[in-house]
Amino acid sequence: MIRFDTPTGRLASQPADCLAVGLFDEDALPDTVRTLDSATGGRLRALRASGDLPVKLGDTQLLLQLPGVRARRVLVVGLGKRADFNRRAWRKAIAAALAACIKGRSTHLALALERPDSAALNDYYFGRAIADLTTSALYRINDQKSGRRPQPPALRRVSVAGVDATARAAVVRGLTHGAAIGGGQSLLRDLGNLPANICTPRYLADQARAIARAHRSVRVRIFDEAQIRRLKMGCLLAVSRGSAEPPRFIVLEYKGGRRNAPPVVLVGKGVTFDTGGISLKDPAAMDEMKFDMCGAGSVLGALQVAAELKLPLNVVGLIAAVENMPGSRATKPGDIATSAAGKTVEILNTDAEGRLILCDALHYARRYEPAAVVDIATLTGACVIALGHHFTGVMANDDALAAELVRAGADADDRAWQLPLTEDYAEQLRSNFADLANVAGRDGGAITAGAFLGRFTQGMRWAHLDIAGTAWLSGAQKGGTGRPVGLLAEFLLRRAGRA
Ligand code: BES
Ligand code: MN
Ligand code: ZN
Repeated sequence: MIRFDTPTGRLASQPADCLAVGLFDEDALPDTVRTLDSATGGRLRALRASGDLPVKLGDTQLLLQLPGVRARRVLVVGLGKRADFNRRAWRKAIAAALAACIKGRSTHLALALERPDSAALNDYYFGRAIADLTTSALYRINDQKSGRRPQPPALRRVSVAGVDATARAAVVRGLTHGAAIGGGQSLLRDLGNLPANICTPRYLADQARAIARAHRSVRVRIFDEAQIRRLKMGCLLAVSRGSAEPPRFIVLEYKGGRRNAPPVVLVGKGVTFDTGGISLKDPAAMDEMKFDMCGAGSVLGALQVAAELKLPLNVVGLIAAVENMPGSRATKPGDIATSAAGKTVEILNTDAEGRLILCDALHYARRYEPAAVVDIATLTGACVIALGHHFTGVMANDDALAAELVRAGADADDRAWQLPLTEDYAEQLRSNFADLANVAGRDGGAITAGAFLGRFTQGMRWAHLDIAGTAWLSGAQKGGTGRPVGLLAEFLLRRAGRA
């Protein structure tokens, strides 16, 4: 477990084994460095003058045994141009400091990066960024390698140095929130990284139960296949019927608000593996379809954050958990299923399964008369084409809700971008045989998927997050990112008046 604190006292006498300070790309030394410099008898100023210290954002340089400084290592971190310094730059600098310090196997880091006065870098956010970035820097993939385990990181303690008495309470609150958010992100990453032969619908249900066991404020209910049939979730069952793994519908209720306050309902796509079904996917990168449950994982992560921070609001998590497989019992293109809402759906492509399980889960949300419904899904490859891997796609039937989510994403550095969702797109879902088809051609594929969900959310304030491009990384960096737990946590914190 990592410990955070906010020590008083001079920088030069901090007991940490690594002290990190920042330098802007400008001639003058920032105040923090100037105080340290006088303790070293001008050593830092001289190194700066000879061009030996980094100033570019994210560059680092380790200095050993500076005279007059108790910390054995002083890590200088480039902060870039002062005029460009914003939350994102700030986070990048902290992440660079953490990475260098973890690589050097320091056990105790004292962070004293200069922070210009600005609302965006307020004390609360400052603490939060340090704690969530530390958690993510210390994250290690829950791999199944059988060789000798690499040593875990040595870092045990992070001290936020140079915090004055007036700022302390806000920084500490930020550290607490950031640590909880980091925990939610790690939970999502772990679930995403697990192979699909471990992380099954039943495994996701066990995770939900574990959250409920850990928090008295959380209640859980798990529906098995027979109970799902009783809920008339014909579209969800049409997806799971090709698989030997039984489906689960998971309901988590966190009660932190007034008894009758309408909840925020989060709905997660939990396809624990997506082969495409009879509309089988290409083999290339099919393994990455183990991440197709990251919507579900982010619901679990966000709910855990809400419960851990005892946020004063009500949150419901709904997870449709299935495996999408071909097989002799599998749904065939052209098959028609009846959704819980009563609408019939012609399943033209069994690989468009996410919208099928979500439409039934979204219908279930109605019984809560929710303040807002947000679904989270690795829904379309088309969203990756549209936005790449930097922004999550946002679609909504309520522009204020979309704006709230985009704003939360910007503030949490877990960015999202709104796509248009007008009636035009829904028209492409016409079928000659059922109320609607589950696909609408290649063009605007992220949005027609959103439009399909929109047909099931009329009358509710609803938004859809397509995280297909942001939930995991491919290639050498392959693994879950923890997104969009940061965005969701920020959204809930703001709704609770706590951010
Ligand atoms: N889980 C996939 C979406 C996906 C694909 C996410 C690649 C990330 C990377 C989803 O179930 C899917 O297969 N969508 C289809 C929809 C199409 C058949 C209309 C897609 O995007 O190709
Ligand atoms: Mn699919
Ligand atoms: Zn899928």
